[in-house]
Amino acid sequence: MAGIRYSSWASGLRKSDIAEFLRNAKEPGILSLCPGVPYPDAYPTEKVAEVTSSLIKNNPEAIFPYGDPQGTLRIREAVAYRMKKRGVDVSPDNIVMTAGSQNAFDMVVRMIMDPGDTMIIEAPTFLGVLDSIKNWGFNLIEVPIDEDGIRTDVLKDTLTRLKSEGIHPKAIYIMSNYHNPAGIMISRERREELPRIAEEFDCFILEDDAYCELLYDDADQTPVKAFDNSDRVIYLGSFSKLVSPGFRVGWAVVPEELVATWNMCRPMFDVGSPSLNQEIIAELHVDNWLDSHIGKLIVGYRSRRDAMLGALDEYMPEGVSWTRAHGGFYSWVTTPENVDLDSLFKRAAKNKVMYFTGNFFYLDHEHHNHFRLCFSRPDEDVIVEAVKRIAAALKEEIAN
Ligand SMILES: Cc1ncc(COP(=O)(O)O)c(C=O)c1O
Repeated sequence: MAGIRYSSWASGLRKSDIAEFLRNAKEPGILSLCPGVPYPDAYPTEKVAEVTSSLIKNNPEAIFPYGDPQGTLRIREAVAYRMKKRGVDVSPDNIVMTAGSQNAFDMVVRMIMDPGDTMIIEAPTFLGVLDSIKNWGFNLIEVPIDEDGIRTDVLKDTLTRLKSEGIHPKAIYIMSNYHNPAGIMISRERREELPRIAEEFDCFILEDDAYCELLYDDADQTPVKAFDNSDRVIYLGSFSKLVSPGFRVGWAVVPEELVATWNMCRPMFDVGSPSLNQEIIAELHVDNWLDSHIGKLIVGYRSRRDAMLGALDEYMPEGVSWTRAHGGFYSWVTTPENVDLDSLFKRAAKNKVMYFTGNFFYLDHEHHNHFRLCFSRPDEDVIVEAVKRIAAALKEEIAN
């Protein structure tokens, strides 16, 4: 077949890196701390089988025809309940259902950004979003994070400098809870400050909270959206980690004006996301079943998190540090500056263990002395063995 004339977006993608990574991670015998996906027993298989057959039998009209493009009312009410539990009082009218939070991000970006427009992103940031926006011709500007989330001092300086150059960013993309890859949470003080900054500089905050509610310790996970008095925060949530990523059910909480625009655009985007999946999840809310399921998930993830932190404490050589995630799926490891992370990765692969090198999570993909470990999927003994192997590779690398 003649070569396909790809769009500049598709032809600009780094074709090999991630696919190659994940392919290798599936080789037999490889211990993988790569993908951020739930552990197999986390899926509510029996309950989903029960509610699905009941929906098909008793309520076919709710699931078979084209649905409300904004999402079924029952799922939007369920999302409003979940948001209220976390301090965000929102009407179902302001909730738009999507095929996962990444799809929500994509649609928002299509509505508010043009090529040449400026967006602020965190450094490091979520790979899925970074890859999706990199080739749209946006002006992407990184602001660093620390253990308290995005550096609001640098953010303000950056916005002030851009303003003096006549540049007016449209959006700031942040992860408020359980950052991917860094495993940190934005501090309460910065959560309160961020909407004020967005108001001052007249831009949106896109708050990605894809791991919502997966909190294992006593920490404040109130979304930034809860402190938004001027409708500057667009909140992006997901059932991927609470129920199943395969269901592709997420949502956005948006200002009224944007809901209207979104509903107008929806027939041109995807005509709405699947009613069956939304209704299954709505049904899981009956008698608070999902709340108790999330309680069990928290026990499972906390135990995996603890296994990882325990193994890092026990096996990592001196000079290496890591984040102690209060929730979510990730630990972000920092090595001494002189460690060659490419060489470390090859050594680790020889030891039959894989993880994501930090470079992927930055715009320039240059050397950064970090890597991401994900504890969500393997059992505890596998996590410990994997960390032990990585630590052994790191000791060899440091010694060389
Ligand atoms: C920070 C972050 N945002 C968004 C997503 C995508 O989630 P969804 O399955 O809801 O599209 C992920 C998936 O891992 C993620 O880590």
